[in-house]
Amino acid sequence: MSDAAASLVPPGASSVLLLARSAISAPPLKEMERFRAVAAALPGVECALFAFSEQGSPSLRHVIDDLVTQGCERLTIVPMQLPFEASFQAWLTRTLIRWRGKDGRPWPEITVAPLLASDDSAAQALTATLASNPAPLALETSKTAVEGSIVPSPKRRVLVCMGGPCNVAGAEIVWGHLRNEQERLSLRTAGEGTMSAKSSCLGPCNLAPVVQVWPEGTYYGGVDEAGIDAIIARHLLAGEPVPELAYEATGKKQILRSKAASDDPEPLHLQSYRNRK
Ligand code: FES
Repeated sequence: MSDAAASLVPPGASSVLLLARSAISAPPLKEMERFRAVAAALPGVECALFAFSEQGSPSLRHVIDDLVTQGCERLTIVPMQLPFEASFQAWLTRTLIRWRGKDGRPWPEITVAPLLASDDSAAQALTATLASNPAPLALETSKTAVEGSIVPSPKRRVLVCMGGPCNVAGAEIVWGHLRNEQERLSLRTAGEGTMSAKSSCLGPCNLAPVVQVWPEGTYYGGVDEAGIDAIIARHLLAGEPVPELAYEATGKKQILRSKAASDDPEPLHLQSYRNRK
């Protein structure tokens, strides 16, 4: 059982679970703990927990398991991800049905509250969202037609690193620009076809933000929007890697060429990330 749940779940309690997507460093964990404490102090809340649906601890799976073990009877899940994605509730419902289907124990009645607004105070926002009386999730398995999928044929795959150093160096901006251009230029079918995906750490963190293009496995470092434009035009569409942005596997430590060419110290955001590790 995770520590987060073990000491907080009274048997049969009506519980509130704050659900965020991911947290990979201490500050967002502290923020979640702050929200958890606010939720725990609200009238009618017998126990409050938080969990992450992707990377981060405790995971949604572990906290749900702990709540079921402790005999929780009513659970309200409060999503804390912005912007709210329409697919979230469908994903959550399917996932809970699957987990419950493999679990012989009685499960709590689960509701999903509206998204927690960020422009109110934490207490106001939580009070409002918990007072909205959301309907219980229908965790029944319905028989739906099984749909097939076409296995895509694109030759190229772009991985955008979302590890810690790449994130603080602007990986989300790089990812957003790549996806917008992929849509605008129909990259999935243009040229030899390209798909893209986010990835965890790709290895050369000091070259952040890092992008890797397959099937060659070419590493690109210090990528920004202009770098993505060059990679699209020259590598993805014309088949030629972009040497000014590429870094070969030399077996030796490398730094960004732009950094080697200047006396600038490491950017503050990367220094502070490293100091936290
Ligand atoms: S975090 Fe991106 S390469 Fe390590």
